[in-house]
Amino acid sequence: MTKRHPIGVFDSGVGGLTVVRALRRALPGEDIIYLGDTARVPYGSKSPRTVERYSLTCQQFLLAREVKLVLIACNTASANALPALREASPVPVIGAVEPGAESALAATRTGNIGVIGTLATVRSGAYAKAINARDPHARLFALACPMLVPLAEEGWTEDEIAELACRRYLQQLFAQAPATDTLVLGCTHYPLLRDVIARVASELAKHEVAVVDSATAMAEAAKEALGSGPNKRTNAGRLDCFATDTSRLDELAPRFLGEPLTGFDLVDL
Ligand code: DGL
Repeated sequence: MTKRHPIGVFDSGVGGLTVVRALRRALPGEDIIYLGDTARVPYGSKSPRTVERYSLTCQQFLLAREVKLVLIACNTASANALPALREASPVPVIGAVEPGAESALAATRTGNIGVIGTLATVRSGAYAKAINARDPHARLFALACPMLVPLAEEGWTEDEIAELACRRYLQQLFAQAPATDTLVLGCTHYPLLRDVIARVASELAKHEVAVVDSATAMAEAAKEALGSGPNKRTNAGRLDCFATDTSRLDELAPRFLGEPLTGFDLVDL
């Protein structure tokens, strides 16, 4: 592998473009290949076996394009398929859970951490495992918030519907874990709702709640994994996007990437 090879990123859909956004900021000279498995999204409601099976085919697609590093932007895939993906890859594989866990531990003052994500992420217990492996005294409360994914896709991220949905979920979290001082956005889509989540969380907790996500931490982990080998050229790296279905992508993708996009090539895995 040389510096010139691209970095591969995959997600169940377009939400993983929040990770690409952070990656392009941290490593602007790198070429990136992004794959969104939009024909099979959502992964969050599926069983661990199915998520693992789908994730392996996504990774295979990227490896066939000679990527030097794989980033699993999808929290559900990271939580359910990381060991299988690492075993199947000759290049380093970075998931979303470990960097997210590290960001949470860096932010918490009291060791009381909340994590919100899809049903499959919460059921996997992956965040608790990653956090407690690093700090056995940390206390974690995890809550599935499945409605927040369609809200983010619809672009309803700042209105009263977003506020009501966040309040309804977070009420459960703070009723059961009132000392939570740090909340992990354990899903690709939730950074779009960050402002509402942060406001409602602090209001319900009656103390300041730090909100962290894995996107920035994953980009930093990618930088570290490349060591002295990142592409340092001055012009911006290429971004090539592929998807297994192209419906609504023109509308959805820029929302997550935060910049215009030249389009997706349709692929069959
Ligand atoms: N990408 C998924 C995640 O981060 C959310 C969408 C889905 O359920 O596939 O967990």
